Amino acid sequence: MQITDKQIKAIQTQVQSRTVSLPDGTTLPSLGQGTWHMGDDPAREADEIQALQLGLKLGLRVVDTAEMYGNGRAETVTAKALKHFRNEAFLVSKVLPSNAGRKNLQASLENSLSRLQTDYLDLYLLHWRGGVPLQETVEEMEKMKAQGLIKRWGVSNFDTADMQELNNITGGQSCAVNQVLYHLGSRGIEHSLLPSMRKRAVPAMAYCPLAQGGNLRSQLLTNPSVQKVADSHQITPMQLLLAWSIRSGDVLSIPKAGREEHVLQNAQAAGIELTSEDLTLLDEAFPPPSRKEPLDIV
Ligand SMILES: NC(=O)c1ccc[n+]([C@@H]2O[C@H](COP(=O)([O-])OP(=O)(O)OC[C@H]3O[C@@H](n4cnc5c(N)ncnc54)[C@H](OP(=O)(O)O)[C@@H]3O)[C@@H](O)[C@H]2O)c1
Repeated sequence: MQITDKQIKAIQTQVQSRTVSLPDGTTLPSLGQGTWHMGDDPAREADEIQALQLGLKLGLRVVDTAEMYGNGRAETVTAKALKHFRNEAFLVSKVLPSNAGRKNLQASLENSLSRLQTDYLDLYLLHWRGGVPLQETVEEMEKMKAQGLIKRWGVSNFDTADMQELNNITGGQSCAVNQVLYHLGSRGIEHSLLPSMRKRAVPAMAYCPLAQGGNLRSQLLTNPSVQKVADSHQITPMQLLLAWSIRSGDVLSIPKAGREEHVLQNAQAAGIELTSEDLTLLDEAFPPPSRKEPLDIV
């Protein structure tokens, strides 16, 4: 893909201007990159590596993966993309709930580190709640931190009551993020989860910010209000979805893009400021929740 140094600099500046702070004071760009399904098709691998590398060049530092994705294949592709760029990236992986106890967590982490060809993760997440007591997972996470294998830990797919329970256990207050599904067509977390996380200064990582695929995405993309707002900013509806997802300043969005043209468009979304009129129009089309809704998951 042809992109000039001047264009790269301009996009980097935009990406760096939209940030989210972690509880330990670390500042990250509000837009990162997902990797789910990368590595599934060997014929796509070269494009996926190039896409991730372009993203890093443009400042999309947060790269999110998981031991679950393709049974480690997404981590392997991520390692290839990060080979000469490990220091530029803020690397996130996730442990399966069944591995999140005393017996397996360290081995799972070491396997992820080995596939990722790195000595440490910037962030390690419990992928979702399972049968292992939370206290045990937190203790294991803290041990991994003390050994320098992870810089910090967090959770994923935790609803309001789960976050409350986590906050009440010893060490639970060190949770750095909660990664949850969030996009314009799925706003349930705005009712109580996001406000309660805000009180504790724990940011959200929005997964599926582009509604991944399928019917809901087509409804979003063909919605007249979405099209009207996108047209008024001369952006694509996908860019609008991303700009919307990071509008509050405490949500970090991790779209997955396996092609450079998508990464470029996604990074440019950092430069889009939605007006209050835009947001009102979008609220009318896709209203915020008026009551607690069950946490949406994929
Ligand atoms: N914690 C969890 O339980 C959980 C669950 C799901 C996802 N995640 C994480 O969140 C990340 C993002 O979610 P997701 O991958 O499910 O869905 P997503 O980011 O909402 O959508 C990804 C899809 O959008 C396409 N796309 C990306 N940028 C585009 C653009 N500018 N224009 C048009 N299409 C575009 C991608 O196509 P191409 O690949 O062809 O570019 C891909 O098909 C995942 O990759 C994963 O890292 C976490």
